Amino acid sequence: TMADHLRKYESLFTLTPQRMRMIVDAFRETLELGLAKPKQTVPMIPTFVFGWPNGQEVGDLLAVDLGGTNLRVCLVTLQGEGKFEITQTKYRLTEEQKQEDGQKLFDFCAECLKTFVETHLADEASGLKLQPGEKLPLGFTFSYPCSQERIDHGELIRWTKGFGAANTEGQDVAEMFRKSLAKYDLPVELTALINDTTGTLIASHYVNPKTKIAVIFGTGCNAAYMENVGAIPKIKNLGIDDDASMAINCEWGAFDSFEHEHLPRTKYDVIVDESSNKPGEQAFEKLISGRYLGEILRLVICELIDEGVLFLGQNTYKLEVPYVLDTAFLSLMESDPTDELLMIIGIFTHFFAVETTLAERQFFRALAKLIGRRAARLSACGIAAIVSKMDYLEEGCLVGADGSLYNKYPGFADRVHEGLVDIFGDKGRNIVTHHAEDGSGVGSAIIAAMTKTRKAAGL
Ligand code: BG6
Ligand code: GLC
Repeated sequence: TMADHLRKYESLFTLTPQRMRMIVDAFRETLELGLAKPKQTVPMIPTFVFGWPNGQEVGDLLAVDLGGTNLRVCLVTLQGEGKFEITQTKYRLTEEQKQEDGQKLFDFCAECLKTFVETHLADEASGLKLQPGEKLPLGFTFSYPCSQERIDHGELIRWTKGFGAANTEGQDVAEMFRKSLAKYDLPVELTALINDTTGTLIASHYVNPKTKIAVIFGTGCNAAYMENVGAIPKIKNLGIDDDASMAINCEWGAFDSFEHEHLPRTKYDVIVDESSNKPGEQAFEKLISGRYLGEILRLVICELIDEGVLFLGQNTYKLEVPYVLDTAFLSLMESDPTDELLMIIGIFTHFFAVETTLAERQFFRALAKLIGRRAARLSACGIAAIVSKMDYLEEGCLVGADGSLYNKYPGFADRVHEGLVDIFGDKGRNIVTHHAEDGSGVGSAIIAAMTKTRKAAGL
């Protein structure tokens, strides 16, 4: 019966508090290793963003955000006192653009920026004005692992989230983008290259200074936090004051990559990994982020189709295509308010041309819940690792969170919070996530403004 099948998946996808605590310990060791030595699997990237904003940063800045799904261009006006205004335009990236030559991808970003700047300069009301020869500072939020030696450059370590544009890994992506900007003769100066997590960390702290950690739960999953320079042995040679603090982009999506020693992977996770464009990599992210959750569910469903348990006698070819089951469907399945699960009927008839029984629909909803809950609880393990490393449990802290999964998946935040209580007991309640301010826009603008101040002070 469906109930027997469900029990099997329950045991595969459920994480006990004890197992979670073991993951937290291994995670914490991994974070420390990444700070100690260069080129580790979880690279713990020093961002050259020094300390928190003071909330008084002001000015007009442009930001380009190349994330996982969209390209965004933003004009941000920082008004000080933790206030800002933002105008933005989104452009959808095609699958081809993610795989073609890297320089062409950056050319496309420059082209979109040009359209955006021209539109705003032509529009009196938008308030964007430039003196002859003046250049606007531009923050580039590039949400892939880049190793940095300064704030305005970064070498792409590897693509993640299914990107594969050629001639980009190992290159300075800030330099590549500058080349594209020059082709379009834009009145801008690229002053900062940042990760979305770093931007989110700074932007959430700008509006709420209790924020100490930022996490993105979107197409990918990653975190950033503020570290003491003295606790980053691998940059001792740079001679930066030990008492200074610097934001670290963890790139924690890579936790447990290659070795697969710590995370409970099911055979569906192994298939997702092995059929990805980067087998072995981003092991943690592949269990959590929006790019993969739908695919995990699809693989379970396909197994049961093969075993003759589901959709007997129906043509299921539409379900057999990798990645057709978007994570947004899991959100819908979990949020269906009707007893008959009418939304789930809609999904399966409309998108996959198959009929479902009520028992099957209840089963699909239960599966979505298992997969979504596991993702949230594993995320809690990552947060707990940073919290215990930084000793934030007693005093408590806020975690700025953003991304489609966090913002749209029903109950995701509650499940992360439950996970934290399972790990830490009651004190876990001291750690609270909240929806962050737009990290790639506002965060990159604040960082550009902080950089300007540092430069002016000769630092
Ligand atoms: C946005 C943040 O809300 O979420 C970006 O402002 C971030 O900084 C993005 O990159 C990630 O979410 P997704 O779902 O687009 O990958
Ligand atoms: C992936 C990227 C990382 C980014 C995250 C969220 O993990 O490698 O840089 O922060 O996705 O967008």
